[in-house]
Amino acid sequence: MRIAILPDNEAIGKVGADLIEELFNRKPEAILGLATGSSPLPIYQEVIRRHRGGKVSFAKGRAFTLDEYVGLPVEHPQRYRNFIRQEFTDQVDFRDEEVNSPEGNAEDLAQACADYDQAIKDAGGVDLQILGIGSDGHIAFNEPGGSLASRTHVGVLTEQTRTDNARFFDDDLNQVPTHCVTQGLGTIMEARRLVLVAQGDNKAEAVRQMVEGAISAHWPATIMQMHPDAWILLDEQAASKLKLSDYYREVWEKSNL
Ligand code: F6R
Repeated sequence: MRIAILPDNEAIGKVGADLIEELFNRKPEAILGLATGSSPLPIYQEVIRRHRGGKVSFAKGRAFTLDEYVGLPVEHPQRYRNFIRQEFTDQVDFRDEEVNSPEGNAEDLAQACADYDQAIKDAGGVDLQILGIGSDGHIAFNEPGGSLASRTHVGVLTEQTRTDNARFFDDDLNQVPTHCVTQGLGTIMEARRLVLVAQGDNKAEAVRQMVEGAISAHWPATIMQMHPDAWILLDEQAASKLKLSDYYREVWEKSNL
C-alpha cells in the first residue's frame, strides 16, 4: 500500500487528480471507477478545475460507479447515478451514456448485478478505482461479514452505515434505504489501481484496521492489503490511529509520484 498522510483536502485533491490526469493523458480511453459520498469530492473538484483549464479530457473515457441504493425514485438526488453526474461527470466531458451505474430499481436485481459485473469485464476492466471507506470498514457497500471474493450483488446496509448516511436524507434514518446493489470485493480487486480516500476522526479505526489489521471479512477494506497497486490518501485525523505513521510519512516523502 502507498500511504499518503496529507495536511488537508486540498492536498488530497491534488494527489488524486494527479493520478487521474496522468492516466487519461496516457490512455484517453481509460476506464475510471467512481465512488460517491463525501470523501472523493476534493478529488473530483480538482479534476473539474483541471478539465476547465484544458489539462485533462474524458471525451474518450468510460466510467463505472461502485454502488447504488435499492428503491430510490429515479429523480431522487441521493440516487448515486444522479449524485455522480451532478458532482462530477456532468461537469467534465464524459459522454453521459458512458457513465454506468448498477441498477437499483431492476425487477430482477440479481440479473442486473450479474450484467453489471459482466459489463465491467467486457469493457476491459477498471484502470483506476476511486474508493471511500465506511466507519464500519466497508468499501463500496461491502459490509462486514460478506465474502472477500464477492461479485456485484444485492446487500443489506448496516445500521451504522444507514446512520452515517442519514445526513444526506434530512437526518432521518427512516428515509435511508435498507438495501443496496454493490460491486463485490472480488470485482473491485480486479481494478488495476485502487485509490482510497478517508478524512476525519470517525474513519480512524477503519483506516487502522485497513492498513495495519489482519485481513478479515469483519473489516472488508483489509482485502486491499492484497492489491498490488493500492493508494491510501488520508488526512491527519483519519491517520491518527496508525502505529507506523512516521514510517509511512518517510516512505511517502522518499517515493516519487
Ligand atoms: C459510495 C461508497 C461508500 C462510501 C463510504 C464513505 O459510493 O462506495 O463506500 O465511499 O460509505 O462515505 P463518505 O465518503 O460519504 O464518508
